[in-house]
Amino acid sequence: MWPDRRLLDVFNIDHPIIQAPMAGSATPALAAAVCNAGGLGSLGCGESTPDQIRGAVAAMRQGTNRPFNLNFFVHEKPETDPDVLQRTLQRVAPFYRELGLGDPPDTLPEIGPGFDDTRLELLLDLRPAVVSFHFGVPEPNAIAALKSAGIILISTATTVAEAITLQSAGMDAVIAQGWEAGGHRGSHQPTEPAAGVGTLALVPQIADAVRIPVIAAGGIADGRGIAAAFALGAAGVQLGTAFLSCPEAGTDPARRALLATASETDTMMTDAVSGKSARAARSRFAMAMEASRAPLPAFRQLYGLTDPLLAAGKDEVASFHLYGQSARLNRAIPAAELMTALVAETAAAFARLAQR
Ligand SMILES: Cc1cc2nc3c(=O)[nH]c(=O)nc-3n(C[C@H](O)[C@H](O)[C@H](O)COP(=O)(O)O)c2cc1C
Repeated sequence: MWPDRRLLDVFNIDHPIIQAPMAGSATPALAAAVCNAGGLGSLGCGESTPDQIRGAVAAMRQGTNRPFNLNFFVHEKPETDPDVLQRTLQRVAPFYRELGLGDPPDTLPEIGPGFDDTRLELLLDLRPAVVSFHFGVPEPNAIAALKSAGIILISTATTVAEAITLQSAGMDAVIAQGWEAGGHRGSHQPTEPAAGVGTLALVPQIADAVRIPVIAAGGIADGRGIAAAFALGAAGVQLGTAFLSCPEAGTDPARRALLATASETDTMMTDAVSGKSARAARSRFAMAMEASRAPLPAFRQLYGLTDPLLAAGKDEVASFHLYGQSARLNRAIPAAELMTALVAETAAAFARLAQR
């Protein structure tokens, strides 16, 4: 039924539906269920230690013998300008006071680069079928080593220029992530909010610009969206938000409750929680920070200031419930059932369009 079979052959899967790697939310149980249903399950390893990654892969291999994807963040060792830290401390202090947390910490955690030699060695040992990257790609020697180990590589683009860069770097496919998408934007450079490109506009322009298969991501949650992605020139889709309501997902109860009554206008794009732009449910903290935009501490180091606010558990003040603009379409059903429904709905959408 699939009009473009390239990804089925490259990934050795039955359906070109990728369950997005979602650090903290995509569990081995979720990813294995998607793999067993013929899709490509993914684990988000961007915030995991090597030991945690080993454990998750062992759990994955207990649950499935099909190909799966491990995902990594690509960024330098984060370094924050001391002046930026001081100015941010002043901006977050009122929220610390409101939540009774005293003064914010005046130092940031030391964090290593997103993808380092330890992780490269780990991948060469674990040998997943697919590795995906967010925020760019690692150094050419790492790409060459992974490719010569037979690992298929993909990465996210949010513009045509980023997609061309990924193709030149040797990626086997590119994920075209639109502005609607839940979670962090995989932009290689920060995008000013007014320049965010939606999936409908992005996918055909990237499909025209590259030879490698394009995977559409952002706002796709049912068969209508999947059929539309193929009409736009995609060879597959990557869905994140749609899988968050599955019982196998590691979605926390507060976010599950939000998803159960979600609307298309719930979310906002903000870099004020992590240091990179992400789509999440609105919160008063993020809205206030966006209203007075200023340089922020580096990606992930900023969590050193915002984690205590989130841990206070007062979502109306500060939260980071990542999900996208299509959440109203979510279904709280097991991942295998969701996969069956997605495939059947896409077939029905293709048939409907062919009849007219
Ligand atoms: C909760 C959540 C966490 C995410 N974490 C990651 C991640 O760790 N790595 C990554 O490449 N993409 C991540 N993403 C983005 C997805 O890969 C994908 O681009 C996005 O979910 C697609 O849009 P959708 O949510 O509308 O389906 C995340 C998305 C969500 C909703």
